[in-house]
Amino acid sequence: MRTFLIAGNWKMNAEPSHAAKLAAEMVANWSDKSFSSEALICPPFISIPAVANAFDGSDFKTGAQNVHTEDNGAFTGEISTSMLKDAGCEYVIVGHSERREYNGEDNDVVAAKARKVISDGLKAIVCVGEVLEERKENRHQAVVKGQVETAIKALDKSDAESLVIAYEPVWAIGTGETASPEQAQEMHEFIRGLIASEWDKETADTIRILYGGSMKPANAEELLSQPDVDGGLIGGASLKADSFSEILTISESIKS
Ligand code: PGA
Repeated sequence: MRTFLIAGNWKMNAEPSHAAKLAAEMVANWSDKSFSSEALICPPFISIPAVANAFDGSDFKTGAQNVHTEDNGAFTGEISTSMLKDAGCEYVIVGHSERREYNGEDNDVVAAKARKVISDGLKAIVCVGEVLEERKENRHQAVVKGQVETAIKALDKSDAESLVIAYEPVWAIGTGETASPEQAQEMHEFIRGLIASEWDKETADTIRILYGGSMKPANAEELLSQPDVDGGLIGGASLKADSFSEILTISESIKS
């Protein structure tokens, strides 16, 4: 049985003082209740300590939005896995479509980052997804296949427990447009099949595949109810403690 992962990607939002407040509000929303889903927030690097500190002693986890593949050295402006671990991170998002688009990260770079994250004892959330034109031209599965297979081939089956895939159709990110539950399920099932053919079905069945792209309280239930949707990677709606908590509540109700 896969546990839901409800993950917030704050992107370039929430300076340390604001991040501390927002994270504390999230914890306060659950102060008298527990949850069985995993809840994760990935703030900007500089706000990671503030969030990790606010989450200390709670079930909320902290992650990062990116990482470098080297351990340390002359890489101005970069952050390493050991720095993230030391600051309290458990997860790292790699290959978000915004990094693919604005920072030129291709499938090989993303695969190398996923391998580095996992080999250094963190968990990787590998983002995949097609742009609108690719979907219109019916190439969405081929594009996602290339993204998933490059990442999987860089890893070993024994890395499966540290791997999460996030399917984020680029046309649904920050646009208010969401993939229909059927579109999400179809792609998630396809992704699970790709992992099964690279490794095996039993392993593929343990890997969580998150949906991302305008997930919010109003559409979370129908998306999270799909059999192959194991959580969400949530941008805009994770910047408000109440809407993030509401999505977490919805995940809890589906589970039970
Ligand atoms: P969104 O972002 O929820 O604001 O669409 C999701 C993401 O980019 O991870």
